[in-house]
Amino acid sequence: MRGSRPDTSKSCARRCRRPPRRPFSIYPSTPNPCYAPSVKSDFLQKYGPWAVVTGASSGIGEAIARELAARGVHLVLCARRKDRLSALAAELTGLHSIQTRVVEVDLSTDTFLPTITEVTNALDVGLLVNNAGFGDKGPFIGCDLTEHLRMLHTNCRAPLMLAHTFAPKLIERGRGGILFTSSTAAFQGIPFASHYAATKGYDLQLAEGLWYELKPQGVDVVALCPGPTDTEGPRRTGVNPAKVPISTMDAKSVAEYGLNALGGNPVAVPGMTNRLLHTLVKLVPRRVATAVSGKMIQRVTS
Ligand SMILES: NC(=O)c1ccc[n+]([C@@H]2O[C@H](COP(=O)([O-])OP(=O)(O)OC[C@H]3O[C@@H](n4cnc5c(N)ncnc54)[C@H](OP(=O)(O)O)[C@@H]3O)[C@@H](O)[C@H]2O)c1
Repeated sequence: MRGSRPDTSKSCARRCRRPPRRPFSIYPSTPNPCYAPSVKSDFLQKYGPWAVVTGASSGIGEAIARELAARGVHLVLCARRKDRLSALAAELTGLHSIQTRVVEVDLSTDTFLPTITEVTNALDVGLLVNNAGFGDKGPFIGCDLTEHLRMLHTNCRAPLMLAHTFAPKLIERGRGGILFTSSTAAFQGIPFASHYAATKGYDLQLAEGLWYELKPQGVDVVALCPGPTDTEGPRRTGVNPAKVPISTMDAKSVAEYGLNALGGNPVAVPGMTNRLLHTLVKLVPRRVATAVSGKMIQRVTS
């Protein structure tokens, strides 16, 4: 009949039941940004009720904490700046129906682990976010060994010890996750940030191995590898954002990408430009990738 429309209600209902489509991407690990309420509750079911987030006092860690709170996950917020953690905890408790614990801890010290487990032992932790870390730019020998060791302990030893402590509990539950914040710096040597790149390479490889090892036991592991991100970290090491030749991402987008990547591929690179560069790095000889990185670091810190 003219003017009447065909009954599309059935096909519509069928279409709406389908999971939302992923946006086109050349990179296979692009997580699904369409976060429907049912997917949110699945997230909480798998990675809740509690998450431990290191480096939650600023930048990417703070953004991860905010995103987890929005998904209803209770938070153990860890870092050295207690005032910042307490303010964040108060804000997130007010905004969402979640509980929080604040742990003032220096991850580079020998006593950091009991400081955290004293709080977490009584909690059902489903997600560990090994995010805290820092870098240094400049000649390798220009940074004293004590500072190099502090970086090694914060960026590598602490994530190792935390993963080793929480993995058995996650395996026992048969579900959960571990997110390591690595970096695109992990994909090649970076002159004038040589040790930082090495620590991020450590995080990447540890995460990749655990991704395979723990998957059959229900535990998802991912290495989140952000490129330049607008946080306090790079500014503190003298990076001039105006001289960074690729677009800088915001911490919120990086955090969402990382959390959505849990349960997918072992390596999650947020941002199309970063993914393209990651692909290029795999195509050129390593010495070329390293030399280009060195030139770039000198440029952004000059
Ligand atoms: N921003 C980027 O361009 C970028 C790119 C790739 C990867 N990343 C990685 O992202 C992670 C977060 O960095 P960000 O960019 O968000 O920088 P940020 O804003 O400086 O955050 C670093 C966090 O780590 C914590 N932290 C540092 N040293 C610590 C220690 N010894 N003990 C406990 N907590 C410590 C800091 O808290 P306190 O100071 O309060 O202790 C802070 O919460 C790092 O692992 C970094 O390597 C950053």
